[in-house]
Amino acid sequence: MKEILVIYYSQTGQLFDVLKNISATISDENVNISYCEIVPKKKFPFPWKSEEFFDVFPETFLQIPAPIEAIPDEILRKKYDLVILGYTVWYLTPSIPINSFLKSSEANKILANTPVITISASRNMWIMAQEKVKKLLVENEAKLVGNIALVDRNINHISVITIVHWMMGGKKTRLFGIFPKPGVSDSDIVAASRFGLPIKKAVMESDYGTLQKNLLEMGAVKIDASLIATDKRGNVVFGKWANTLIKKTGEERKKWLVYFNYYLLFAIWVIAPIVFIVFLLTYLPMFRKIQKERAYYSSVALKQD
Ligand SMILES: Cc1cc2nc3c(=O)[nH]c(=O)nc-3n(C[C@H](O)[C@H](O)[C@H](O)COP(=O)(O)O)c2cc1C
Repeated sequence: MKEILVIYYSQTGQLFDVLKNISATISDENVNISYCEIVPKKKFPFPWKSEEFFDVFPETFLQIPAPIEAIPDEILRKKYDLVILGYTVWYLTPSIPINSFLKSSEANKILANTPVITISASRNMWIMAQEKVKKLLVENEAKLVGNIALVDRNINHISVITIVHWMMGGKKTRLFGIFPKPGVSDSDIVAASRFGLPIKKAVMESDYGTLQKNLLEMGAVKIDASLIATDKRGNVVFGKWANTLIKKTGEERKKWLVYFNYYLLFAIWVIAPIVFIVFLLTYLPMFRKIQKERAYYSSVALKQD
C-alpha cells in the first residue's frame, strides 16, 4: 500500500478543489491518500477588507512565520511515499500558512527524504514564489519531483480586476456580468484530474525520473515569459517596501500601508505595462535567454546562487 499525504492551505477552496480532482485519479485500493489542512492559529479573513489585505504584505513577503495549529500525531507518525504540497501565492511568495508550515520542525519530520510534488493555484504570478518554495524544500531535505501551477488564464490586467472583486467581495462571480469569472477556470479545475495518472504511475513504480517531463507534456505548467521580468522586478521593489513597512507600528504602519496600496496600483497600471513593452521590444535579442528561463522555471531544479 502506497501512502500519500496532501498537505495544503486553501482559503476559498479553489486550490482544495484542484487537489481533490487530482487525488481522485491517483486513489485506488493500492494507494491511501490522507489530507492535512494547515490551520493558522489566527484565521485570515475572507472576504478581505482592503486594510487587512495590505496588512499581511510585510510578514508574507519577508516570510515571517505565524503560529499554526499542531499537525495531528497520526500524520507525524507515518512515513509517506509521496507528499503533495498545495499552496497559493500571496505577494509573489508562498502564503503565510504554508511558509509557517515549511519553517516548522514538523515540516522536516514529514518532508525529510520524501518525494514532494508542489501544486499551486494562483492568479498568474507564481514563478518566484515557487523558487522560494524550492529553497524551503531543500532546507527540509525534501526532494521536489513535480510541479503543477494552475493560473487564471485571462490577460494580466483583467485578472487583477476580477481577483479584487473576488477577494474583497467574497464571491467568485463575473463582475457586472461582463468580466470573466476570477481565478482558475472551472474547466481547468475539473481537467486537473488528468495529472493524477502520471503521478499514480510514478508512485506505484517509485520512479519520479520522468514525472515532471510527463506533467509538462500534459500542460501542468505554462510559463508566460512576459511575467517573469515583472515577477523578478516586483520582488526587488517589494523587498524595499516590506523592509520599510515592517519597522512601522500602529497608526504609522496603517499610514504606510495606504502608501503601499497606491504604489501597488501604480505598479500594476503603469510599471507593469512598461515592463511588458520592454519585453516585446527586446524579445528577439533576448530569445535564447527567454527560452532558457522558460525551461528552468518549468523544471523542478533549483539554481545554486
Ligand atoms: C493577500 C493575497 C495576495 C495574493 N497575491 C498573489 C500574487 O502575488 N500572485 C498571484 O498569482 N496570486 C496572488 N493571490 C491569489 C492567490 O494565489 C489565490 O489564487 C487566491 O487567494 C485563491 O486561493 P485559495 O485556494 O486559498 O482560495 C493573492 C491572494 C491573496 C489573498
